[in-house]
Amino acid sequence: MKQILVIGIGAGNPEQITVEAIKALNRAEVFFILDKGYADDDLLHLRREICERYIEGEDYRLVQVRDPRRQEGGPSYQSNVEHWHEQRAVLFEQLIGNEVRDGETGGFLVWGDPALYDSTLRILDRVLARGREAFQYEVIPGITSVQALAAQHRVTLNRIGEPIQITTGRRLAQAQGADIENVVVMLDAHCTFERFIDQDLYIYWGAYLGTADEVLISGPLKQVSERIKRIREAARARKGWIMDTYLLRRDVE
Ligand SMILES: C[S@@+](CC[C@H](N)C(=O)[O-])C[C@H]1O[C@@H](n2cnc3c(N)ncnc32)[C@H](O)[C@@H]1O
Repeated sequence: MKQILVIGIGAGNPEQITVEAIKALNRAEVFFILDKGYADDDLLHLRREICERYIEGEDYRLVQVRDPRRQEGGPSYQSNVEHWHEQRAVLFEQLIGNEVRDGETGGFLVWGDPALYDSTLRILDRVLARGREAFQYEVIPGITSVQALAAQHRVTLNRIGEPIQITTGRRLAQAQGADIENVVVMLDAHCTFERFIDQDLYIYWGAYLGTADEVLISGPLKQVSERIKRIREAARARKGWIMDTYLLRRDVE
């Protein structure tokens, strides 16, 4: 039987990798690296660095492939995602079929943790459901960007007894300001927090967390919103990509 390891590698800091992940890295013969096609791809570099740093010996292969791009023009967001997942399932099936022999182990290096806004597990289930490839897979958790954000700002995500919501920029855009208590926002390309500057909210914002380019800004949303937007745009223009996460919290203190 083929074995697949889905290994959470943390959100940018190569030191934020677990002992279990290091052991998993040393079990696989081949690793799949999905190239998103960014010009300055520090994310690929980090994956390579993790392999070089933590794998003993050089007896492993890295297979880098271009990740299919999600189409934008379909009838709905859901159908765009569905189409994209199907393309990825075909790609994963080919990778497992061509690169992992029976009895061998292949690894997918997943940014942060595989359970948080990542489709690798869904795609692997889809590959199994297609029935052309048989394999077992294990999941090794990683430090998420949410944990990295909280640690860098030295903040707990919830105040005593309060709930935490984790959502996307797309969903935050539909929220009512009054509903926001402790909301962690990911995948936000449009500074959606700007919609709420009339509310008494506090923001803890972080970009490129754990990397040499890390930027942290926190403060009352009304006061820091403009600065975050400016710094975010400049950083994105300079590097060609950005990943940022933030906690929005009702400001009761
Ligand atoms: C597709 S999700 C992947 C999340 C990942 N599985 C995790 O556990 O953090 C990508 C989003 O994660 C957040 N993210 C990931 N890495 C980050 C980093 N180093 N700094 C800031 N945000 C990050 C951003 O909100 C980005 O849009």
